[in-house]
Amino acid sequence: MWARIYQYRSLKLSALARRVGANTDLKRIHRLGREMEEILRRDPACAAKYTDYTFWMPFNVARIGRLSLHKTPPLRVLDIGCGPGYFLAAARACGHECYGIDAPPSILSDVEKRVYSELLGALGCDAQVSPLLIERYVAMNLPLRDLDLITAFWICFNRHCQPDEWGVAEWRFFVTDALSHLRDGGTLHLELNANPDRYGPRQWYDDETLEFFRSVGTVEGGIVRVRKPKIQP
Ligand SMILES: C[S@@+](CC[C@H](N)C(=O)[O-])C[C@H]1O[C@@H](n2cnc3c(N)ncnc32)[C@H](O)[C@@H]1O
Repeated sequence: MWARIYQYRSLKLSALARRVGANTDLKRIHRLGREMEEILRRDPACAAKYTDYTFWMPFNVARIGRLSLHKTPPLRVLDIGCGPGYFLAAARACGHECYGIDAPPSILSDVEKRVYSELLGALGCDAQVSPLLIERYVAMNLPLRDLDLITAFWICFNRHCQPDEWGVAEWRFFVTDALSHLRDGGTLHLELNANPDRYGPRQWYDDETLEFFRSVGTVEGGIVRVRKPKIQP
């Protein structure tokens, strides 16, 4: 992970994890890690994995590098499905104004509830995160407008791996709604989770959905970027 970060040859990026660490309650995260040890042993893929700060913080600093967020002037950023908040904390340490949304506690598992609330608190991001369930054909009830960037990493809100995983119609609705919260020229950055059992070699989408994504933006594997057009004066 560090090799990935150093490839950007940026002192700001290389120092970012340390900057976040200075404002993080690391003892609280270590305590949570100890509490989650047994759960993690039983289910290494569950949300308890996020208690490994030394892995997830650099992992999210690398995301900052990939999006060049260490180089841009301060942006207004919304992270959808922010979970434990590592990306928010890293983006904020770069000087960006950050907001997050995630599914409400009523639909999270006990482990997700505990891990996300503790980590958001330890990272000092809890005040910037609101509960909001993304649902098919329901516009996001968000007071935020004129955002510069909306991100969503390892997306599950599309009913990932469920029999009713979103197709092109749901994605069209979501993208149109998300763009309405961006300023002109703002960017929607989506990182999809693969579902090869459903899509075969395409992995992330069916042909129709891929065609839609390409018609509105750029697609690189599971990464979809859509720029809201600038209105010409
Ligand atoms: C795989 S985790 C990814 C967390 C984080 N984005 C990351 O990359 O580390 C998916 C996140 O999406 C959230 N999520 C799942 N379904 C959702 C929905 N319908 N609306 C909002 N958030 C949702 C989960 O609670 C979880 O935090």
